[in-house]
Amino acid sequence: MEKEAFLMSEIKLLSPKVISKIAAGEVVERPASVLKELLENSIDSGATVIKIDIEKAGKKLIRVNDNGKGMSGEDLNLSIERHSTSKISEFEDLDSLITFGFRGEALYSITAVSKTKITSATETEKCGHSLEIEGGKTVSKSEAPKILGTTVEVRDLFFNVPARAKFLKGDLSERSHLIKVVEDCALAYPEITFHLRIDGRDIYVLQGSGLDRKSAIVAKAQEILGKDIAKTLEYEEDNSGPLKMYLTRPQNLVATRGMQFFFINRRPVTSKVMQQAMYKAFEGMRQGNKHPVCIVYMELPPSEFDVNIHPQKKDVRFRNESFIYKQILGLASKIISQSTNAFETPAKPIENISNGGEGVFAQTKTPSPLASSLSSSKEEYQSEKPQVLNLIEKEKGPKWWNPPYRYLGQIEKSYLVFESGDGMLVIDQHAAQERLLFENYIYQISNGKAPVQPLMLPVNIEMSASSIENILKWRDWLNSAGFEFERFGPTTLIVRSIPVIFDFNDDNLRELFEKLSEVLGDPQKCSEEVKRETVAMMACKKSIKAHDKISSEEAQRLLKDLKECKNPGFCPHGRPTMFSMTRSDILKKFHRTS
Ligand SMILES: Nc1ncnc2c1ncn2[C@@H]1O[C@H](COP(=O)(O)OP(=O)(O)O)[C@@H](O)[C@H]1O
Ligand SMILES: [Mg+2]
Repeated sequence: MEKEAFLMSEIKLLSPKVISKIAAGEVVERPASVLKELLENSIDSGATVIKIDIEKAGKKLIRVNDNGKGMSGEDLNLSIERHSTSKISEFEDLDSLITFGFRGEALYSITAVSKTKITSATETEKCGHSLEIEGGKTVSKSEAPKILGTTVEVRDLFFNVPARAKFLKGDLSERSHLIKVVEDCALAYPEITFHLRIDGRDIYVLQGSGLDRKSAIVAKAQEILGKDIAKTLEYEEDNSGPLKMYLTRPQNLVATRGMQFFFINRRPVTSKVMQQAMYKAFEGMRQGNKHPVCIVYMELPPSEFDVNIHPQKKDVRFRNESFIYKQILGLASKIISQSTNAFETPAKPIENISNGGEGVFAQTKTPSPLASSLSSSKEEYQSEKPQVLNLIEKEKGPKWWNPPYRYLGQIEKSYLVFESGDGMLVIDQHAAQERLLFENYIYQISNGKAPVQPLMLPVNIEMSASSIENILKWRDWLNSAGFEFERFGPTTLIVRSIPVIFDFNDDNLRELFEKLSEVLGDPQKCSEEVKRETVAMMACKKSIKAHDKISSEEAQRLLKDLKECKNPGFCPHGRPTMFSMTRSDILKKFHRTS
């Protein structure tokens, strides 16, 4: 029997047993990494149904059963051998080995640090075979019933590497890693069915086999994200097809970052670039604690990306980052721009609302039947009665637009209440004003120069010399955006005019310039769009808004102006500007059905 090298007194080569334990550490970090390798093998074997059993967060048992093509007795014996390293004869081979993980090491490594039993049968052989290995040593071989496919049972992980076992996290944490591996695999391979059982309890039955790709993704998303969230996803793909995206609308963001799935060529990945592009698409429509839900599939030639060297990590790097960024941003923006117009609660009969299972990803683009039947082609204000009873009607408009509107009044000095063609609409007056201001201003500066109003009394602003330097770098740009100013001394700036659209008092103007000097970086490195949006957002915030008291005409004007907005549903800082309650929502509240 081999003795372990470290027990010997002289310097010796490490015994193969020790080497295998060290190597195992590279591949087998925790129960989730074992599960990932086993699932990949089952997927490679052509399985359509994969069953997973976990006990004690995988520390006691990880069992994966598949209906794939199985292994012959001979292949079974070979499967646990370390693959020949002749592969690494050339540098390029080493490179691809690193890129695609340490192929041929998984079963070898897993069996080195656990008590494993593999049972497998193929179509061609008379019977199946079974192999038991403990800490890398084969302890039994036997025949097994001919049940096509393979079962790998990994017990007592790290039983012979106590140092490693100690580093495992608590059950809760290891379990969530295991579940994440199953979710990733199930979404990466929609056409395969996955059953997951933990400590005897069914956690997931993720149907896939027999379904077409899209229905399978829908079915799995319903289980993994929950029906309510899955229902809010919209689907879009780019023209040439290598990018497919399921994405929430801005009004359905969730309180966790954990529902974002990215796949490249079926491999689950994490990527800063992809994530940033996704968040960029929601800029101005998202509050900090709300996050998009997405499932993104991308196909790329292998030469275009590179997965992090560490076999456990899935961080991906791209050869052409800006291409990836633009692709994701473009498709996400497309979905969002279609859906912000479809501002929440489209007029749907109650039957449709409760009918959650079907058409989950269908885009709710049907206009309200009421909207078309009640609309008149001419846009007009009408005075019906002596009180405030004005109706706004118009045929065309964004999806939330549901005329006729009747202004009912203001509450809390802030919220405007309208009766709509199908229920009720409430507008946050201040958020709406900000949205209008923002879009108007952006429009002005993108169309040349923003109209300017000279200040009767120029305003002096005291700032540090470095802040002044920073602001001066932006002078030309800010000039065309309507702010005219110059240096008046080493630490003084003098502002002579501001955009017509804003209303600042001296203090607000000072605060705005201070803020600008803090956040504006190098204008050379900043895209035109970002410049516009940053400055507009800050200026809107500082501008003094219309008074709280609002006339009926002003309220109606606000509503009509919002209708023309690109993103009417949210203020520039991401707060909603409105919500609606459909007639059916109201009926439901009163437990009425018709
Ligand atoms: N579930 C399975 N079904 C069929 N064959 C399998 C299965 N798991 C492992 N094998 C066989 O064992 C070999 C070794 O597996 P592994 O150590 O994971 O290395 P790799 O997957 O990189 O080849 C595989 O190449 C495959 O031939
Ligand atoms: Mg493998």
